[in-house]
Amino acid sequence: MRRTIADVQKMKRMGERISMLTVYDCASALIAERAGVPMLLVGDSLGMVMLGYDTTLPVTLDDMVRHAAAVTRVSREALVVGDLPFMTYATTQDAVISARRMMQEGGVQALKLEGGAAVLPQFRRLVELGIPVMGHLGLTPQSQHQIGLRVQAKRAAEARRLLEDALALETAGAFALVLELVPAPLAEAVSKHVSIPVIGIGAGAGCDGQVQVWHDLLGLFEEKTPRHARRYASIGTAMENAVRAYVADVRAGSFPSAAQSTVMDEAELAAALD
Ligand code: KIV
Ligand code: NA
Repeated sequence: MRRTIADVQKMKRMGERISMLTVYDCASALIAERAGVPMLLVGDSLGMVMLGYDTTLPVTLDDMVRHAAAVTRVSREALVVGDLPFMTYATTQDAVISARRMMQEGGVQALKLEGGAAVLPQFRRLVELGIPVMGHLGLTPQSQHQIGLRVQAKRAAEARRLLEDALALETAGAFALVLELVPAPLAEAVSKHVSIPVIGIGAGAGCDGQVQVWHDLLGLFEEKTPRHARRYASIGTAMENAVRAYVADVRAGSFPSAAQSTVMDEAELAAALD
């Protein structure tokens, strides 16, 4: 049985911390589910880690739908949340059109939108239409040219605004909230002030859960791991070593061996070459 937003909200009430992880394709979705991740995010971070862009801004709704569909075709257990990408929910009408595609074609169970007060009408409309929506406050990478890529809400005025946004999103019907790159004590306070689950990234251990990017967690890009990430494996190096071994075997003529090849009746071959 697939997890629901009610299951995730119950985890908060029970004091059970929630892990969330980004996935972008069928292999990662299957692995994450086998490992017991209750909530998967098809994040627009795919722009950087899958598509080679510098930011999330060039990511299109088509990109999101394609990757979300790859995940939801194989996923059975986790609650799958999909990001609406940059400029696809600027108006309430845009949000409705984008949401339809992510839900129907992408197959996700919930959506995530960046922003606070400015996107409340979009939240209310999507919730009215029966769509679970997750908020995203603090560092919102789609606004990076305006706010930078640094820790947000270190000062009282901005921190107060963030708390107000969190409460407003809860009132608008958000089922959960991501807090990205904000001071740990503020994230903990917000988690206590709202009743919906607060999922942190670079926001300390006081949140109701944590979200991480697949490639950061597994060390796919050896040279760049953000400070907020803990690298649980060095998969990039493991992959490189495997590919090196393959290249060496091909060069040496030791791949493929008989086990990976098919035999042929000698008479058939002789007749063919005659
Ligand atoms: O796109 C993403 O991966 C995200 C998480 C970092 C929360 O939005
Ligand atoms: Na995102």
